[in-house]
Amino acid sequence: MAIIGKDIKRAQEFLNNGQLVAIPTETVYGLAGNALDESAVLSIFETKKRPSFDPLIVHTDSLEKLEQYVLEIPDKAFLLAKAFWPGPLTLLLPKKIIIPDLVTSGLDTVAVRIPNHALTLELLTGLDFPLAAPSANPFGYISPTSAQHVSQQLGDEIPYILDGGACGIGIESTIVGFIDGITTIYRLGGLAVETIENVVGEVSLMPHSSSNPQAPGMLKSHYAPRKPFYLKDRSSILSLGNENSGYLLYDHYLDGIDRKYQRLLSPKGDLKEAAHNLFAYLRALDAEPLDQIYGEFVPDINLGRAINDRLKRAAAID
Ligand code: TXA
Ligand code: MG
Repeated sequence: MAIIGKDIKRAQEFLNNGQLVAIPTETVYGLAGNALDESAVLSIFETKKRPSFDPLIVHTDSLEKLEQYVLEIPDKAFLLAKAFWPGPLTLLLPKKIIIPDLVTSGLDTVAVRIPNHALTLELLTGLDFPLAAPSANPFGYISPTSAQHVSQQLGDEIPYILDGGACGIGIESTIVGFIDGITTIYRLGGLAVETIENVVGEVSLMPHSSSNPQAPGMLKSHYAPRKPFYLKDRSSILSLGNENSGYLLYDHYLDGIDRKYQRLLSPKGDLKEAAHNLFAYLRALDAEPLDQIYGEFVPDINLGRAINDRLKRAAAID
């Protein structure tokens, strides 16, 4: 069983040995291994049961180190890095040969980010390699936002979980690439599109295709609970729900239904708070003795767009 602790030296020892360690970030917990060591990277894919066509994000702690891993940083990428790193932003950049093809699933770009979490930044500073880290959940399931979530699912498979508390943001990083100089969002996430546009002007959104996903985090069914999860408007939820249903709601309760299994993402209607609670509440409802879970959309602005994206994927609808 994995040890849960805050011992950075211990975590570094495991990583230096080619083993995997779960690490906290401001978005979700990552399942980390030496990104330059193919066998460590292979064990990430095996531990997560992740298909090898789904590439990993490489985490580092400085732009100086990043230059060892990428061929160039386009002007717009540099602007975004300066504005938002460390933070919930992943950039797709042309990779250097030092990054194994296994990390990028054979693509010539590598996904990189500097996460904003004090423990993990200190961990990275003491390592002489970057960390490849997908979210620390079995492939397809809800991402973990606490050390306990990681332990529940991968505790038997890894030696150490670095405990950095509950993730502040709670949904994955926003992935940004550059196609013919056009800033393109590959995955909505913890950095709002509007905030990115304030820095680089208008961006385009990559439409997803589940048959040939550019970013398989864009697969239709992802971040999904084990129980059936239905996204409906409130009046449909009211007529469909029964005593064996759970409810994932935005900011106010459903009238006439027992509140025991109603969870409000943000009673004060704050999208940041809703993002922070999303995965933990979905996971908690999934663990209750219920037959199904009903959810509703949140306002489709700022972080609400990423929340709605995750809700749709949890419900496997377009
Ligand atoms: O917030 C996050 O990004 C978290 C924390 C741990 O950093 N990580 C995370 O990793 O969400 P993961 O593996 O669950 O999602 C990474 C996504 C996948 O959808 C993958 O397809 C996409 O990044 N990706 C990675 N490299 C790519 C590339 N070169 N081109 C396009 N998409 C890429
Ligand atoms: Mg993931």
